[in-house]
Amino acid sequence: MQNSLFTNLIILLSFFHLNVFAGPTVEKYPAVLAVRQTTSNAQCADYSRIANLSTIGANATYRSLFLQASPRGTFADADMLNAAIAKLPKLTKDAGLNKACGNLTTVAFVEAEKNFTQGVVAQFSGLVPTGIRAGPEVALIVGFIVVGFCGMFVFV
Ligand SMILES: *[C@@H]1O[C@H](CO)[C@@H](O)[C@H](O)[C@H]1NC(C)=O
Ligand SMILES: *[C@@H]1O[C@H](CO)[C@@H](O)[C@H](O)[C@H]1NC(C)=O
Ligand SMILES: *[C@@H]1O[C@H](CO)[C@@H](O)[C@H](O)[C@H]1NC(C)=O
Ligand SMILES: *[C@@H]1O[C@H](CO)[C@@H](O)[C@H](O)[C@H]1NC(C)=O
Repeated sequence: MQNSLFTNLIILLSFFHLNVFAGPTVEKYPAVLAVRQTTSNAQCADYSRIANLSTIGANATYRSLFLQASPRGTFADADMLNAAIAKLPKLTKDAGLNKACGNLTTVAFVEAEKNFTQGVVAQFSGLVPTGIRAGPEVALIVGFIVVGFCGMFVFV
């Protein structure tokens, strides 16, 4: 009698034990999370690409530099930029997406400006955007060159 009670207790405990470790909470939850994560990553990558292209396409300066620099046909690129411009507003307004990815519209805007000051538009670098404005900088640069040459002559 005593023995069988003890056995029942063991069986009961092992049943709970199995239930806890084989239960859906432990086994399936990470998988669910992983799926959600991948979806979100793909969506963020999409949002990022569209935001970057739209920012470039909507600014006349960036747009013309991009179209000049791109080896693809202007028509194909213009279509791509226009498609991005058309798609972005919906993504910008999507609160969930912006929470998951950060506001990539703002990121694209800020980063495109930063890139531009370094002669970069999208993946194309070495563009000459700002150039050297014909202002006081020119006098300064010419001054440096003159001083440099003078220095050379002194040493020669
Ligand atoms: C969009 O621009 C940001 C900022 O420069 C960059 O980090 C990101 O990789 C770009 N996204 C794509 C898909 O190229
Ligand atoms: C993201 O930033 C843009 C401005 O860059 C703003 O218009 C938009 O409302 C923001 N999106 C969200 C969901 O806050
Ligand atoms: C386009 O980008 C340039 C350089 O960042 C900026 O000076 C100009 O105001 C932008 N134009 C528009 C219409 O946003
Ligand atoms: C900024 O430049 C990097 C390459 O230097 C590029 O990958 C990124 O997409 C650019 N960002 C934007 C918003 O154009």
